[in-house]
Amino acid sequence: MPVTIAPTLAGMATYPFVRLEEVRRRLVADGVEVIDFGKGDPNEPTDPIIREALVAALPERSPYPLAQGLPELREAVAGWCARRFGVALDPDTEIVPTYGSKEAIFSLAQVVDVQGRTVVYCEPAYPVYERGALFGGARAETLPLLRGRGFLPDLDALHDDVALVWVNYPHNPTGAVAPLSFYEELVEAAERHDFVIASDEAYTELWFDEPPPSALQVSDRSRVIVFQTLSKRSSMTGYRSGFVAAPAEVIAALKAYRPTVGTAPQEFVQRASVVAWGDERHVDETRARYRAKREVLMPVLASRGWEVVASEATMYLWVAVPTGESGEAVALRLLEHGVIVSPGPFFGPSGEGYVRFALVPTLEECRRAAAILEEQL
Ligand SMILES: Cc1ncc(COP(=O)(O)O)c(C=O)c1O
Repeated sequence: MPVTIAPTLAGMATYPFVRLEEVRRRLVADGVEVIDFGKGDPNEPTDPIIREALVAALPERSPYPLAQGLPELREAVAGWCARRFGVALDPDTEIVPTYGSKEAIFSLAQVVDVQGRTVVYCEPAYPVYERGALFGGARAETLPLLRGRGFLPDLDALHDDVALVWVNYPHNPTGAVAPLSFYEELVEAAERHDFVIASDEAYTELWFDEPPPSALQVSDRSRVIVFQTLSKRSSMTGYRSGFVAAPAEVIAALKAYRPTVGTAPQEFVQRASVVAWGDERHVDETRARYRAKREVLMPVLASRGWEVVASEATMYLWVAVPTGESGEAVALRLLEHGVIVSPGPFFGPSGEGYVRFALVPTLEECRRAAAILEEQL
């Protein structure tokens, strides 16, 4: 072939959810009615006040959005951070809007100097930390998240070659929550070994007991970069709207980097986002919907001896397989009955022995799935 594909890309395994999607399509084509707990894309309606704000903001002409974002959006984000976490951020220097959070997570390794050094992420994991590190020319190293440690990493394993550490709490896929003391310990380790902390907080708003903390709440956030998104909080995956909150020099670097990539959210999306960050009623309702789905599935799993582990927050149930089967074998078995779940090893080797349910089907579908599980587990 005359075109050689970049080796970092060519060397990558298929994004695991692509495989799951292929199987799902095949089943649907065969007329099987599938209930899809696989991919974590909320199936919830976006609240009408947000949709109406988007429509009202649609201009006759829509010029290129600026990387710095609309001042109204940065102020709305700062206001939300103050109300939710009690932190005061300067909307002009410490916040930049992003096109969802994935692109910003991926490209961080091109903004912070990690070339030839080590980027650490914890596994099981969302796959983007590793991919961003590799495309950014860094080495990727993992820390296992194990049940015995409450799915928190062993910070003693960090060392002086580490340039950047990714954490993600509430955690996808386990649903574990980190206490504020964990973030403080991580900051101490960062000072000891001179690394930067990147905290992916996509799920802080999907909680069932107590609102989880943010890494923004540590006493010294000079090494802390936080990634937030409306995707899960406000069921807005398709809108692509999030933000990074970080020290002024990081935000200045992002404002310099991002115009070359062209990832500023559309201004009509930014105006809808102002409304989304300013409203908690729809987020309460979203939590109530996820809670109802948990309450349908958890008793069935428990009655069959399937233990739901961690899962204190997020839209996920992390379920220990009691049968000695691999996560993949269980997922394939359930697939035959039209129930799609993600095998734990999709997220890394420490996911073996687990499957993940993303509570994205409707409540009615969850009830049907519960009936199937009752028979098949
Ligand atoms: C852990 C985690 N972080 C970040 C994201 C990115 O979401 P978005 O780009 O929609 O903000 C996801 C999406 O599934 C996720 O699971």
